[in-house]
Amino acid sequence: MIWVIGNKGMLGQEVCRQLEEKKFNWVGTDREVDITSIDALENFAESVETNAYFPSKISHKERKITWIINCSGYTNVEKAEEETELAEKLNEVGPRNIARISRKIGAKLIHISTDYVFGGAGTSPYSEDGHKNPLGVYGKTKLAGEVAIQKEMNTYYIVRTAWLYGFDGKNFVYTMTKLMNSHDQIKVVNDQRGTPTCASDLAEALLKLIEKNEGAKSLFGKHSAPSYGVYHFTNLGQTNWHEFACEIYKLGKKYGRITQDCQVNGCSTEEYGAKVERPAYSVLSKDKIIKELKIKIPEWQVSLEKFIKNERFNPL
Ligand SMILES: NC(=O)c1ccc[n+]([C@@H]2O[C@H](COP(=O)([O-])OP(=O)(O)OC[C@H]3O[C@@H](n4cnc5c(N)ncnc54)[C@H](OP(=O)(O)O)[C@@H]3O)[C@@H](O)[C@H]2O)c1
Repeated sequence: MIWVIGNKGMLGQEVCRQLEEKKFNWVGTDREVDITSIDALENFAESVETNAYFPSKISHKERKITWIINCSGYTNVEKAEEETELAEKLNEVGPRNIARISRKIGAKLIHISTDYVFGGAGTSPYSEDGHKNPLGVYGKTKLAGEVAIQKEMNTYYIVRTAWLYGFDGKNFVYTMTKLMNSHDQIKVVNDQRGTPTCASDLAEALLKLIEKNEGAKSLFGKHSAPSYGVYHFTNLGQTNWHEFACEIYKLGKKYGRITQDCQVNGCSTEEYGAKVERPAYSVLSKDKIIKELKIKIPEWQVSLEKFIKNERFNPL
């Protein structure tokens, strides 16, 4: 049984959709099982593993939680600067609680983290063990969450991602589409570099981690499962927010998502005058996940086109 925590979030919904499609045994919870309460997590795990949650048609073996995928968290980078305590609770205390429960029930854990742990001063793709210099409350609390998990258990995969967009949540692609449909011109920063990530590609990689781990065979005594630890996943390539917006405009027009003309102007971070600092450079190296999972990751433009033309595209 796979337990998805944060199943109503943008990534959580995509993960659950793919679990359902691939006929995995899974269960999902969101705010109703508060990650900041270890008792709430423990009670839920118990109700799944005993007969309380599922009708008896599910066998004891099937009810055993073997994986937890944590897609929950505090994700509002701007508000985190004011709601520091809440951000700490959701990004540090919550993951620590989840790791404790995982260890207690013998489940493996997949947890999602962020490029913000690096700070943004780099100039070449960050490797998993690159120097950390977390940016703002969001970056600091997400890094603290990683550390908390690492202290509690060994059988975890922490997957850092960046610039995430998906069908079921507020994201840059939807925001730009709405702005481009309601303004003659917009301004987007052109001096912050990174790589967009389509949530369906990330979800696919997360399930691959599970499949590879579960399917691992002992070869001459050597375990061939992807090694536990930290991984990076985004789409391939790199860009800046202005170029990303231009591509959204081009594809939005092509597929009838943007129905009026809009001038997409570039500007510097300074000129834009954002409330919080964002990473100037946040490209993550994907070498490790490509090697360990033997996967091909799509270029960001290819995934963006698939996303925009998909019938589930629905700016909220
Ligand atoms: N979005 C990005 O660009 C991005 C980039 C890099 C990394 N990430 C990481 O990727 C993960 C998923 O991001 P996302 O954008 O899919 O997040 P999201 O849409 O904000 O989903 C998070 C979910 O957690 C729920 N939640 C809040 N408090 C909770 C609690 N106390 N107990 C249980 N659940 C609770 C939220 O409910 P409410 O909505 O009701 O609060 C929401 O459904 C996060 O760990 C995030 O840090 C995201």
